[in-house]
Amino acid sequence: MEHKVDSVEEPRALRVAMLGCGVVGSQVARLIIEQADDLASRIGARLELVGIAVGNPTRERPGLDPALFFGDAEALVSRDDLDIVIEVVGGIDPVRDWVATALEGGASVITANKALIAAHGAELTEIARLRGVDLYYEAAVAGAIPIIRPLRESLVGDEITRVMGIVNGTTNYILDQMTTTGAEFADALGEAQDLGYAEADPTADVEGHDAAAKAAILASLAFHTDITSDQVASQGISQLTSRDISSAAGLNMVIKLLAVAELTPADQVSVRVNPVMLPTAHPLASIKGAYNAVFVESREAGRLMFMGPGAGGAPTASAVMGDLVTAARNRVRGVAGAAPTAYTRRSVADPGGTESRYHLRFVVLDEPGVLARAADVFARHAVSIATVHQAATSSENGTPYAELEVLTHLTRESTVQACVAELTAQDFIGDREDGAGKVRLLRVEASS
Ligand SMILES: NC(=O)c1ccc[n+]([C@@H]2O[C@H](COP(=O)([O-])OP(=O)(O)OC[C@H]3O[C@@H](n4cnc5c(N)ncnc54)[C@H](OP(=O)(O)O)[C@@H]3O)[C@@H](O)[C@H]2O)c1
Repeated sequence: MEHKVDSVEEPRALRVAMLGCGVVGSQVARLIIEQADDLASRIGARLELVGIAVGNPTRERPGLDPALFFGDAEALVSRDDLDIVIEVVGGIDPVRDWVATALEGGASVITANKALIAAHGAELTEIARLRGVDLYYEAAVAGAIPIIRPLRESLVGDEITRVMGIVNGTTNYILDQMTTTGAEFADALGEAQDLGYAEADPTADVEGHDAAAKAAILASLAFHTDITSDQVASQGISQLTSRDISSAAGLNMVIKLLAVAELTPADQVSVRVNPVMLPTAHPLASIKGAYNAVFVESREAGRLMFMGPGAGGAPTASAVMGDLVTAARNRVRGVAGAAPTAYTRRSVADPGGTESRYHLRFVVLDEPGVLARAADVFARHAVSIATVHQAATSSENGTPYAELEVLTHLTRESTVQACVAELTAQDFIGDREDGAGKVRLLRVEASS
């Protein structure tokens, strides 16, 4: 629909270069062209797409002028007349250098690249600050969901205490399938790959690396400090079994891969990615399929939930476009938006020192005195037991075994790990049917 535009003196067009024109980039290019008039009205200047660098510049791209495409990204970002560069290639090398060149040359940069921001966000933010330009990356975390700007701007006057997110749609889809159909991990992964929710090499998603990069970005913004992905204690979902899922269901919980960043009592930042048991009543427990959600707890606002599509060309392009309009408006006014600050210099807490409730599941010889011996191991480590449940009995070569499930009270991670190590070494502990280690250990997130 065409909207009437007030006639004002037309400022010069803003020159925009793009790096990448794949799943996300092709949608961004489409929107820049299709929405040109409305964007001009919202920004106060027209956007002129001056070039798009891609891997294969000779490939035909429907709806896009072939003359726009270049194979040399370095040459494109080195132009001295760019206002804004949109980076949607992905990866760190050589993209870091292209983004730095663009910023140093005086262009604002918009990127959807979580790996880049989680590794080099602080240094690139500093270049942008020194050059008086913007660096925006709304699309780098949770796709279409506005979460970076709420943390950078809307909540910047509040004190955030915890951010918990389902920030990887692939793993949420797999866990959801395992929960609803009883499938094992490998089958649910195969289905996710068939449907295009998981890549041929799913390692970055299923081992938690993708979520760790997003956790680092969320933690840095929420707690005004610089945190990189390698400081995030992360664990993926590839070791989970259908028995883990059914055992959570028996306790009215679901298993979700959560990115959690929170302030510790010592004012450090605890940041981790791992599969956790979550009460079904928790708002994040209801996030199904490939959706993402981020749950923020702050001192004054209380609890806030953001949810929506965490990936996909058009949804992610929506987030890029929001950044593009903001950066372009700033450009028209000759200003840059306020950059996030890392003034607290909060350090990252040792993961072993963080406290949580835990769920342990193991098989013991089903004979008198064994329960007391198991309880004794917990007592020696001062791990306080909240509940014990005998889940199932079985028999191996005529020897009876029982599966025990233990829910602990709040315990330090290092303490519960020591308890698990000692339990594993006990002669009354049997091998588990799924072969997934003698003692299964999962964090239990408290209900909100
Ligand atoms: N896909 C999503 O749902 C999603 C969601 C959130 C964030 N992101 C992020 O968005 C970024 C882009 O993802 P995507 O899914 O759009 O990737 P993609 O479909 O693989 O597209 C990558 C683009 O980069 C181009 N490219 C590759 N090597 C290049 C080089 N040396 N020089 C110039 N261009 C080069 C490719 O060119 P060709 O077209 O010639 O191959 C392609 O156009 C990544 O950082 C990703 O993490 C993606």
